[in-house]
Amino acid sequence: MHLILSAPENRIFLEQEVVRALPAAVLEPVGDSMLALKAPGSWVETCAAVGLTAFARQWLPDARTFPVPSIRAAAENLVTELIGCLPDGAPWRLHVEPRFGIAEAGRHRCELIRDAVIEQLRKRRRSLLRGLDAVPKASAGEAAALLGACPLFQPEESLVQLLLTSLEVGFLSVLPAPGPSAAMGWISPFPQGEVPVAVDKAAPSRAFAKLAESELRMGRRIAAGETCVDLGAAPGSWTYQPVQRGARVIAVDRSPLRDDLMRSPRVTFHQGDAFRFVPETPVDWLLCDVIAAPERSIGLVLEWVRERRCRHFVVTIKFKGQEDYAQLDVLKREMPRWVESFQLLHLCANKNEACVFGTVGNGPLKNAG
Ligand SMILES: C[S@@+](CC[C@H](N)C(=O)[O-])C[C@H]1O[C@@H](n2cnc3c(N)ncnc32)[C@H](O)[C@@H]1O
Repeated sequence: MHLILSAPENRIFLEQEVVRALPAAVLEPVGDSMLALKAPGSWVETCAAVGLTAFARQWLPDARTFPVPSIRAAAENLVTELIGCLPDGAPWRLHVEPRFGIAEAGRHRCELIRDAVIEQLRKRRRSLLRGLDAVPKASAGEAAALLGACPLFQPEESLVQLLLTSLEVGFLSVLPAPGPSAAMGWISPFPQGEVPVAVDKAAPSRAFAKLAESELRMGRRIAAGETCVDLGAAPGSWTYQPVQRGARVIAVDRSPLRDDLMRSPRVTFHQGDAFRFVPETPVDWLLCDVIAAPERSIGLVLEWVRERRCRHFVVTIKFKGQEDYAQLDVLKREMPRWVESFQLLHLCANKNEACVFGTVGNGPLKNAG
Protein backbone atom coordinates (compact mmCIF):
# COMPACT_ATOMS: atom_id res chain seq x y z
CA MET A 1 0.00 0.00 0.00
CA HIS A 2 1.24 3.50 -0.82
CA LEU A 3 0.01 6.55 1.03
CA ILE A 4 -0.45 9.82 -0.86
CA LEU A 5 -0.84 13.14 0.96
CA SER A 6 -2.67 16.19 -0.34
CA ALA A 7 -4.10 19.42 1.02
CA PRO A 8 -7.49 18.50 2.58
CA GLU A 9 -9.46 20.51 0.00
CA ASN A 10 -7.67 18.69 -2.83
CA ARG A 11 -8.06 15.07 -1.80
CA ILE A 12 -11.00 14.55 -4.12
CA PHE A 13 -9.06 16.01 -7.07
CA LEU A 14 -6.08 13.83 -6.24
CA GLU A 15 -8.37 10.81 -6.28
CA GLN A 16 -9.73 11.79 -9.70
CA GLU A 17 -6.20 12.34 -11.00
CA VAL A 18 -5.02 8.89 -9.87
CA VAL A 19 -8.11 7.16 -11.28
CA ARG A 20 -7.69 8.90 -14.66
CA ALA A 21 -4.14 7.56 -14.85
CA LEU A 22 -4.78 4.12 -13.38
CA PRO A 23 -8.46 3.14 -13.59
CA ALA A 24 -7.74 -0.21 -11.89
CA ALA A 25 -6.28 1.46 -8.78
CA VAL A 26 -7.91 0.67 -5.45
CA LEU A 27 -8.10 3.88 -3.44
CA GLU A 28 -9.25 4.39 0.11
CA PRO A 29 -9.45 7.73 1.89
CA VAL A 30 -7.46 7.92 5.13
CA GLY A 31 -8.52 10.89 7.23
CA ASP A 32 -9.36 14.03 5.28
CA SER A 33 -6.11 14.52 3.42
CA MET A 34 -4.64 11.14 2.52
CA LEU A 35 -5.30 8.32 0.12
CA ALA A 36 -4.20 4.72 0.47
CA LEU A 37 -3.41 3.34 -2.97
CA LYS A 38 -3.29 -0.37 -3.64
CA ALA A 39 -1.93 -1.35 -7.02
CA PRO A 40 -0.27 -4.48 -8.33
CA GLY A 41 3.49 -4.34 -8.81
CA SER A 42 6.29 -2.50 -7.10
CA TRP A 43 6.33 1.15 -6.03
CA VAL A 44 8.47 2.04 -9.05
CA GLU A 45 5.92 0.45 -11.39
CA THR A 46 3.05 2.21 -9.61
CA CYS A 47 4.87 5.51 -9.76
CA ALA A 48 5.45 5.11 -13.50
CA ALA A 49 1.83 4.06 -14.11
CA VAL A 50 0.26 6.91 -12.12
CA GLY A 51 2.71 9.53 -13.34
CA LEU A 52 2.95 12.96 -11.74
CA THR A 53 -0.06 14.10 -9.77
CA ALA A 54 -0.49 17.84 -9.32
CA PHE A 55 -2.58 17.44 -6.17
CA ALA A 56 -0.18 15.13 -4.31
CA ARG A 57 2.20 16.81 -1.88
CA GLN A 58 4.05 13.72 -0.71
CA TRP A 59 4.10 9.94 -1.20
CA LEU A 60 4.87 7.30 1.42
CA PRO A 61 5.81 4.28 -0.71
CA ASP A 62 5.12 0.80 0.72
CA ALA A 63 3.64 2.34 3.85
CA ARG A 64 2.39 0.14 6.67
CA THR A 65 0.79 0.69 10.03
CA PHE A 66 3.27 1.37 12.79
CA PRO A 67 2.10 1.24 16.42
CA VAL A 68 3.41 3.85 18.84
CA PRO A 69 2.61 2.34 22.27
CA SER A 70 5.21 4.63 23.87
CA ILE A 71 7.96 6.90 22.63
CA ARG A 72 10.64 4.51 23.78
CA ALA A 73 8.99 1.39 22.27
CA ALA A 74 8.42 3.17 18.94
CA ALA A 75 12.05 4.29 18.79
CA GLU A 76 13.33 0.79 19.66
CA ASN A 77 11.15 -0.85 17.04
CA LEU A 78 12.03 1.69 14.39
CA VAL A 79 15.75 1.33 14.99
CA THR A 80 15.47 -2.48 14.87
CA GLU A 81 13.81 -2.16 11.43
CA LEU A 82 16.35 0.33 10.15
CA ILE A 83 19.32 -1.78 11.22
CA GLY A 84 17.85 -4.49 9.02
CA CYS A 85 17.36 -2.39 5.91
CA LEU A 86 19.61 0.71 5.74
CA PRO A 87 23.26 0.34 4.79
CA ASP A 88 25.69 1.42 7.54
CA GLY A 89 27.21 4.86 7.10
CA ALA A 90 25.16 5.77 3.99
CA PRO A 91 23.22 9.06 4.17
CA TRP A 92 19.52 8.99 5.03
CA ARG A 93 16.84 11.39 6.20
CA LEU A 94 14.18 10.87 8.82
CA HIS A 95 10.83 12.70 8.70
CA VAL A 96 8.76 12.12 11.85
CA GLU A 97 5.55 14.11 11.42
CA PRO A 98 2.04 14.42 12.86
CA ARG A 99 -0.96 14.20 10.51
CA PHE A 100 -4.03 14.77 12.64
CA GLY A 101 -6.16 17.59 14.08
CA ILE A 102 -4.34 20.34 15.90
CA ALA A 103 -0.73 19.46 15.27
CA GLU A 104 0.83 20.80 18.49
CA ALA A 105 0.58 17.71 20.72
CA GLY A 106 1.54 15.54 17.78
CA ARG A 107 4.50 17.67 16.83
CA HIS A 108 5.92 17.52 20.32
CA ARG A 109 5.52 13.74 20.38
CA CYS A 110 7.23 13.46 17.00
CA GLU A 111 10.18 15.48 18.25
CA LEU A 112 10.47 13.19 21.28
CA ILE A 113 10.35 10.10 19.03
CA ARG A 114 13.07 11.53 16.82
CA ASP A 115 15.26 12.27 19.87
CA ALA A 116 14.65 8.75 21.18
CA VAL A 117 15.63 7.27 17.78
CA ILE A 118 18.90 9.20 17.89
CA GLU A 119 19.52 7.98 21.43
CA GLN A 120 18.86 4.37 20.39
CA LEU A 121 21.16 4.68 17.40
CA ARG A 122 23.89 6.09 19.63
CA LYS A 123 23.62 3.00 21.82
CA ARG A 124 23.03 0.37 19.15
CA ARG A 125 24.39 1.46 15.75
CA ARG A 126 26.58 4.56 15.60
CA SER A 127 27.45 3.90 11.95
CA LEU A 128 23.76 4.40 11.07
CA LEU A 129 23.61 7.56 13.16
CA ARG A 130 26.55 9.00 11.19
CA GLY A 131 24.46 8.81 8.02
CA LEU A 132 21.42 10.61 9.49
CA ASP A 133 20.99 14.00 7.80
CA ALA A 134 24.54 13.74 6.44
CA VAL A 135 24.19 15.92 3.33
CA PRO A 136 26.15 14.32 0.49
CA LYS A 137 28.85 16.44 -1.15
CA ALA A 138 26.90 17.01 -4.36
CA SER A 139 24.21 19.02 -2.57
CA ALA A 140 26.52 20.84 -0.16
CA GLY A 141 27.78 24.32 -0.97
CA GLU A 142 25.91 27.18 -2.50
CA ALA A 143 22.65 25.48 -3.45
CA ALA A 144 22.21 23.89 -0.01
CA ALA A 145 23.07 27.17 1.71
CA LEU A 146 20.54 29.04 -0.42
CA LEU A 147 17.83 26.47 -0.14
CA GLY A 148 18.06 25.84 3.60
CA ALA A 149 17.45 22.59 5.38
CA CYS A 150 15.80 20.62 2.58
CA PRO A 151 18.12 20.29 -0.41
CA LEU A 152 17.08 17.89 -3.16
CA PHE A 153 17.83 14.22 -2.53
CA GLN A 154 21.09 12.85 -3.86
CA PRO A 155 21.27 9.32 -5.32
CA GLU A 156 23.04 7.97 -2.18
CA GLU A 157 20.23 9.06 0.16
CA SER A 158 17.40 6.97 1.62
CA LEU A 159 14.25 8.39 3.20
CA VAL A 160 12.43 7.13 6.29
CA GLN A 161 8.99 8.64 6.93
CA LEU A 162 7.01 8.02 10.10
CA LEU A 163 3.65 9.76 9.98
CA LEU A 164 1.60 9.77 13.19
CA THR A 165 -2.13 9.67 12.51
CA SER A 166 -2.92 9.66 16.25
CA LEU A 167 -0.80 9.69 19.38
CA GLU A 168 -0.65 5.86 19.38
CA VAL A 169 -0.40 4.85 15.74
CA GLY A 170 1.06 5.92 12.45
CA PHE A 171 2.41 4.79 9.10
CA LEU A 172 6.01 3.90 8.36
CA SER A 173 7.63 4.09 4.93
CA VAL A 174 11.26 3.31 4.16
CA LEU A 175 12.46 4.22 0.67
CA PRO A 176 16.03 3.06 0.12
CA ALA A 177 18.50 4.91 -2.11
CA PRO A 178 18.34 5.85 -4.93
CA GLY A 179 14.51 5.92 -4.63
CA PRO A 180 14.07 9.45 -3.26
CA SER A 181 16.29 11.15 -5.85
CA ALA A 182 14.91 9.01 -8.70
CA ALA A 183 11.34 9.99 -7.81
CA MET A 184 11.66 13.77 -7.71
CA GLY A 185 8.14 15.13 -8.26
CA TRP A 186 6.68 12.26 -6.20
CA ILE A 187 8.97 12.27 -3.16
CA SER A 188 9.48 15.71 -1.65
CA PRO A 189 12.50 16.61 0.47
CA PHE A 190 10.09 18.74 2.49
CA PRO A 191 8.36 16.81 5.31
CA GLN A 192 4.81 16.03 4.14
CA GLY A 193 5.67 18.09 1.05
CA GLU A 194 4.75 21.27 2.89
CA VAL A 195 6.66 24.47 2.16
CA PRO A 196 5.94 27.50 4.37
CA VAL A 197 4.42 30.30 2.27
CA ALA A 198 7.10 32.96 1.84
CA VAL A 199 6.31 36.56 2.71
CA ASP A 200 8.21 39.68 1.61
CA LYS A 201 6.43 42.87 2.55
CA ALA A 202 8.60 44.86 0.14
CA ALA A 203 7.38 42.83 -2.86
CA PRO A 204 4.53 44.34 -4.90
CA SER A 205 2.11 41.46 -4.18
CA ARG A 206 1.67 38.07 -2.56
CA ALA A 207 2.31 36.35 -5.90
CA PHE A 208 5.91 36.53 -4.64
CA ALA A 209 5.37 33.27 -2.71
CA LYS A 210 4.66 31.15 -5.81
CA LEU A 211 8.00 31.80 -7.47
CA ALA A 212 9.85 31.48 -4.14
CA GLU A 213 8.24 28.08 -3.52
CA SER A 214 8.88 26.83 -7.06
CA GLU A 215 12.56 27.67 -6.74
CA LEU A 216 12.76 25.82 -3.42
CA ARG A 217 11.13 22.76 -4.89
CA MET A 218 13.38 22.85 -7.95
CA GLY A 219 16.47 23.21 -5.75
CA ARG A 220 17.57 26.00 -8.06
CA ARG A 221 17.40 29.79 -7.77
CA ILE A 222 17.54 32.49 -10.41
CA ALA A 223 21.08 33.83 -10.05
CA ALA A 224 22.94 37.10 -10.65
CA GLY A 225 23.76 37.63 -14.31
CA GLU A 226 20.98 35.37 -15.61
CA THR A 227 18.28 36.57 -17.99
CA CYS A 228 14.54 36.08 -17.51
CA VAL A 229 11.39 36.76 -19.47
CA ASP A 230 8.46 37.42 -17.12
CA LEU A 231 5.11 37.13 -18.93
CA GLY A 232 2.12 38.79 -17.25
CA ALA A 233 4.60 40.52 -14.97
CA ALA A 234 2.56 43.35 -13.36
CA PRO A 235 2.57 44.51 -10.63
CA GLY A 236 5.96 42.82 -10.42
CA SER A 237 6.53 40.36 -7.54
CA TRP A 238 8.08 37.78 -9.82
CA THR A 239 10.27 40.33 -11.62
CA TYR A 240 11.24 41.78 -8.23
CA GLN A 241 12.99 38.57 -7.11
CA PRO A 242 15.51 38.14 -9.95
CA VAL A 243 16.10 41.90 -9.98
CA GLN A 244 16.96 41.81 -6.26
CA ARG A 245 19.51 39.10 -6.99
CA GLY A 246 21.19 40.88 -9.87
CA ALA A 247 19.51 39.13 -12.78
CA ARG A 248 17.99 40.91 -15.78
CA VAL A 249 14.31 40.71 -16.70
CA ILE A 250 12.29 41.40 -19.83
CA ALA A 251 8.88 42.04 -18.25
CA VAL A 252 5.86 41.68 -20.56
CA ASP A 253 2.41 42.91 -19.61
CA ARG A 254 -0.41 45.06 -20.87
CA SER A 255 -0.04 47.21 -17.74
CA PRO A 256 3.10 48.72 -16.25
CA LEU A 257 4.86 47.28 -13.18
CA ARG A 258 5.38 49.12 -9.91
CA ASP A 259 7.31 52.38 -10.43
CA ASP A 260 10.60 51.32 -8.88
CA LEU A 261 10.70 48.23 -11.12
CA MET A 262 9.84 50.29 -14.20
CA ARG A 263 12.84 52.50 -13.37
CA SER A 264 15.23 49.61 -12.62
CA PRO A 265 18.14 49.35 -15.10
CA ARG A 266 17.76 45.58 -14.84
CA VAL A 267 14.17 45.63 -16.17
CA THR A 268 13.18 46.04 -19.81
CA PHE A 269 9.44 46.58 -20.01
CA HIS A 270 7.62 45.37 -23.09
CA GLN A 271 4.01 46.47 -23.26
CA GLY A 272 1.97 43.91 -25.19
CA ASP A 273 0.49 40.46 -25.44
CA ALA A 274 2.35 37.77 -23.50
CA PHE A 275 1.22 35.11 -25.97
CA ARG A 276 2.81 36.85 -28.93
CA PHE A 277 6.13 37.65 -27.30
CA VAL A 278 9.22 35.81 -28.61
CA PRO A 279 12.67 36.77 -27.24
CA GLU A 280 15.36 37.77 -29.74
CA THR A 281 17.76 35.30 -28.12
CA PRO A 282 17.03 32.40 -25.76
CA VAL A 283 16.95 33.23 -22.06
CA ASP A 284 17.84 31.41 -18.85
CA TRP A 285 14.35 31.55 -17.36
CA LEU A 286 10.77 31.76 -18.58
CA LEU A 287 8.50 33.05 -15.81
CA CYS A 288 4.79 33.23 -16.57
CA ASP A 289 1.94 34.05 -14.22
CA VAL A 290 -0.43 35.40 -16.82
CA ILE A 291 -4.19 35.18 -16.19
CA ALA A 292 -5.49 33.05 -19.05
CA ALA A 293 -7.48 29.91 -19.81
CA PRO A 294 -5.50 26.81 -18.80
CA GLU A 295 -5.11 25.53 -22.36
CA ARG A 296 -3.47 28.81 -23.40
CA SER A 297 -0.86 28.72 -20.62
CA ILE A 298 -0.26 25.02 -21.25
CA GLY A 299 0.19 25.70 -24.98
CA LEU A 300 2.54 28.59 -24.22
CA VAL A 301 4.92 26.65 -21.97
CA LEU A 302 4.97 23.70 -24.38
CA GLU A 303 5.85 26.03 -27.25
CA TRP A 304 8.66 27.64 -25.25
CA VAL A 305 10.25 24.34 -24.27
CA ARG A 306 9.78 22.79 -27.71
CA GLU A 307 11.42 25.81 -29.30
CA ARG A 308 14.12 25.78 -26.57
CA ARG A 309 13.65 29.46 -25.87
CA CYS A 310 14.60 29.02 -22.17
CA ARG A 311 16.72 26.78 -19.96
CA HIS A 312 14.38 26.78 -16.97
CA PHE A 313 10.73 27.66 -16.55
CA VAL A 314 8.12 28.43 -13.89
CA VAL A 315 4.60 28.78 -15.26
CA THR A 316 1.27 29.12 -13.46
CA ILE A 317 -1.78 27.36 -14.89
CA LYS A 318 -4.90 29.16 -13.62
CA PHE A 319 -8.37 27.66 -13.40
CA LYS A 320 -11.82 29.22 -13.37
CA GLY A 321 -13.67 26.31 -11.74
CA GLN A 322 -12.74 22.73 -11.03
CA GLU A 323 -13.75 21.21 -14.37
CA ASP A 324 -10.48 22.06 -16.08
CA TYR A 325 -8.08 20.12 -13.89
CA ALA A 326 -7.89 17.19 -16.35
CA GLN A 327 -6.22 19.55 -18.83
CA LEU A 328 -3.06 19.18 -16.76
CA ASP A 329 -2.80 15.68 -18.20
CA VAL A 330 -1.61 17.27 -21.47
CA LEU A 331 1.47 18.57 -19.63
CA LYS A 332 2.11 15.17 -18.05
CA ARG A 333 2.03 13.58 -21.51
CA GLU A 334 3.92 16.17 -23.52
CA MET A 335 6.56 17.63 -21.17
CA PRO A 336 8.77 14.52 -20.89
CA ARG A 337 9.45 14.70 -24.65
CA TRP A 338 10.99 18.14 -24.40
CA VAL A 339 12.53 18.65 -20.96
CA GLU A 340 15.22 17.14 -18.77
CA SER A 341 13.10 17.38 -15.61
CA PHE A 342 9.88 18.97 -14.47
CA GLN A 343 7.37 19.05 -11.64
CA LEU A 344 3.68 19.82 -11.74
CA LEU A 345 2.12 20.81 -8.47
CA HIS A 346 -0.61 22.63 -6.68
CA LEU A 347 1.82 24.66 -4.55
CA CYS A 348 1.20 25.56 -0.92
CA ALA A 349 1.12 29.17 -2.19
CA ASN A 350 -1.35 28.43 -5.02
CA LYS A 351 -5.02 29.33 -5.01
CA ASN A 352 -7.14 27.78 -7.80
CA GLU A 353 -4.09 27.14 -9.94
CA ALA A 354 -1.08 24.86 -10.31
CA CYS A 355 2.51 25.48 -11.31
CA VAL A 356 4.68 23.63 -13.78
CA PHE A 357 8.41 24.19 -13.38
CA GLY A 358 11.57 22.52 -14.55
CA THR A 359 14.67 22.48 -16.70
CA VAL A 360 14.82 22.12 -20.46
CA GLY A 361 18.38 20.85 -20.45
CA ASN A 362 21.91 21.79 -21.26
CA GLY A 363 21.88 21.35 -25.01
CA PRO A 364 22.34 24.40 -27.23
CA LEU A 365 19.39 26.78 -27.07
CA LYS A 366 17.72 27.71 -30.33
CA ASN A 367 17.96 31.25 -31.55
CA ALA A 368 14.37 32.24 -31.71
CA GLY A 369 14.82 35.64 -33.37
C1 LIG B 1 -1.64 37.46 -11.58
S1 LIG B 1 -1.08 38.86 -12.41
C2 LIG B 1 0.65 38.58 -12.39
C3 LIG B 1 1.29 38.85 -11.08
C4 LIG B 1 2.79 38.89 -11.19
N1 LIG B 1 3.34 37.59 -11.43
C5 LIG B 1 3.40 39.46 -9.95
O1 LIG B 1 4.19 38.76 -9.34
O2 LIG B 1 3.14 40.60 -9.62
C6 LIG B 1 -1.48 38.55 -14.06
C7 LIG B 1 -1.03 39.60 -15.04
O3 LIG B 1 -1.23 39.07 -16.34
C8 LIG B 1 -1.49 40.18 -17.18
N2 LIG B 1 -2.08 39.67 -18.43
C9 LIG B 1 -3.22 38.98 -18.62
N3 LIG B 1 -3.34 38.63 -19.93
C10 LIG B 1 -2.26 39.11 -20.56
C11 LIG B 1 -1.79 39.06 -21.90
N4 LIG B 1 -2.47 38.41 -22.85
N5 LIG B 1 -0.62 39.66 -22.18
C12 LIG B 1 0.10 40.30 -21.24
N6 LIG B 1 -0.30 40.38 -19.96
C13 LIG B 1 -1.45 39.79 -19.62
C14 LIG B 1 -2.40 41.06 -16.37
O4 LIG B 1 -2.34 42.39 -16.87
C15 LIG B 1 -1.80 40.90 -14.97
O5 LIG B 1 -0.91 41.95 -14.70
